[in-house]
Amino acid sequence: MIVTIDGPAGAGKSTVARELARRLGFCFLDTGAMYRAVAWAAARQGLAWDDQTAVAELAAHLPLVFDSHRILVDGQDVTLAIRSQEVTHNTRYVADNPLVRAQLVALQRRLAHGRHVVTEGRDQGTVAFPAAECKFFLIASPRERARRRWQQLQERGESMMLEDVLAQQNQRDARDARRACGPLTPAPDALIVDTDGLTQTQVVDTLERLVRERGTADAWE
Ligand code: DC
Repeated sequence: MIVTIDGPAGAGKSTVARELARRLGFCFLDTGAMYRAVAWAAARQGLAWDDQTAVAELAAHLPLVFDSHRILVDGQDVTLAIRSQEVTHNTRYVADNPLVRAQLVALQRRLAHGRHVVTEGRDQGTVAFPAAECKFFLIASPRERARRRWQQLQERGESMMLEDVLAQQNQRDARDARRACGPLTPAPDALIVDTDGLTQTQVVDTLERLVRERGTADAWE
């Protein structure tokens, strides 16, 4: 069974998807981390962002390893490094590259093959897994999403004005939505879940109930 969770930055997808996967006993795919890892590796190799073929070639052969909470590139733990502001900024060039997207969608399908998976990103229900049994699209108001992101930055000791976080987020949203390939948009058969005013536990409870209602008896065997 494939469960897809898409939505804009700050809608709470990662934490919710990880916890939902844990409760269901499914594998978890963090596809944003894949784009981030490619951006991290491309910057290290000094590749030009407009050399789409070279960046896609790197993506095709990047030795990525995921274990429960870590991501390794060629044996190096990059879990924290890929969350830096610099990598967040550079990832847009990688995410806009249609050749990279094709490579990473193929990788996501290989990783999910024959498994029960909760996968989160922007295009999981539309492009990567259009036949997924259960699709969710998480939303929250822009200000609420910016407030969550601002809080995370505070906890990491990175100080930034809430208004600046909101402005950057608006730019990312616009870029994600107008991307020619794999834009951020709900699949026609996705359930839209508004997370404003809900705790993460309440969101996971809702999603878990919906997945279990939809899952067939053999889905977990
Ligand atoms: O969810 P995130 O912030 O880790 O995503 C990082 C970047 O990758 C963000 O710019 C959106 C992009 N992305 C994408 O284009 N498609 C996905 N399936 C996942 C992430």
